Amino acid sequence: MTKTYLGIIGGSGLYGIDGLQDSIWQSMTTPRGAPSDQILTGRLDGLPLAFLPRHGRGHVHAPDTIPYRANIDALKQLGVTDVLSISACGSFRDEMAPGHFVLVDQYLDRTKGRAPSFFGTGCVAHVSLAHPACDRLTDSVATACTKAEIKAHRGGTYLAMEGPQFSSLAESRLYRDTLGCDVIGMTAMPEARLAREAELCYLTVAMITDYDSWHPDHGAVSITDIIATAHSNAGQARALIRALPSALNTSRDPCSDGCDRALDHAILTAPAH
Ligand code: ADE
Repeated sequence: MTKTYLGIIGGSGLYGIDGLQDSIWQSMTTPRGAPSDQILTGRLDGLPLAFLPRHGRGHVHAPDTIPYRANIDALKQLGVTDVLSISACGSFRDEMAPGHFVLVDQYLDRTKGRAPSFFGTGCVAHVSLAHPACDRLTDSVATACTKAEIKAHRGGTYLAMEGPQFSSLAESRLYRDTLGCDVIGMTAMPEARLAREAELCYLTVAMITDYDSWHPDHGAVSITDIIATAHSNAGQARALIRALPSALNTSRDPCSDGCDRALDHAILTAPAH
């Protein structure tokens, strides 16, 4: 029977994991090229874990040049079953303050020109993205946040923007007031789509670093402020990761959201004879 194998994709400020036993940085190749960096594998209190820095160590990949397909493919090849994606994000809500975490349950995708699928010519598939976040993984991460005394909001809509520039005031107001989004970032799409196509349980944890540009009491978002807050958030992310082995639901019962069976009945192309 498959065992739970946790994959963690770390965002800005999170480029490694402390305390992994038998840890080794592994080079991987995939049909979609190399992932963002080597992948750190090991065990955390017995839990098999693979960590991938999304931007690469040294922060060498911009949001639009991250090899999203290779990243998900490499984690799948390793045997990862559950992906926790950690990202620095801006907030559209007063109550979702810098330093808080949001367990994202929905996305609006405004990215442009990023390869959004593993499928296409030769093999056509349409998976459901109605519920892109895995509920079982969300339950476990919510428990770990409580153990680690992290202020976490369960549920929130993530606006995925192309970047690399931050939003204009008009865009920020549109996303918040008209579209009803809660957080904004540049990297969770197409990652979440690809995780579903790879039949992985997936959750984005948005680490709030700023109020984007809509907030009348805060100035325009700046990368200097974001990096400073991302570094203090990274301490909390480490505490969250340390709390995960005891909080994670490792039963491999079929996922109630069907993440692990997403391709059943999704492929339209006839099998080759
Ligand atoms: N990452 C962190 N803060 C952000 C913001 N305000 N917009 C887009 N990406 C972000």
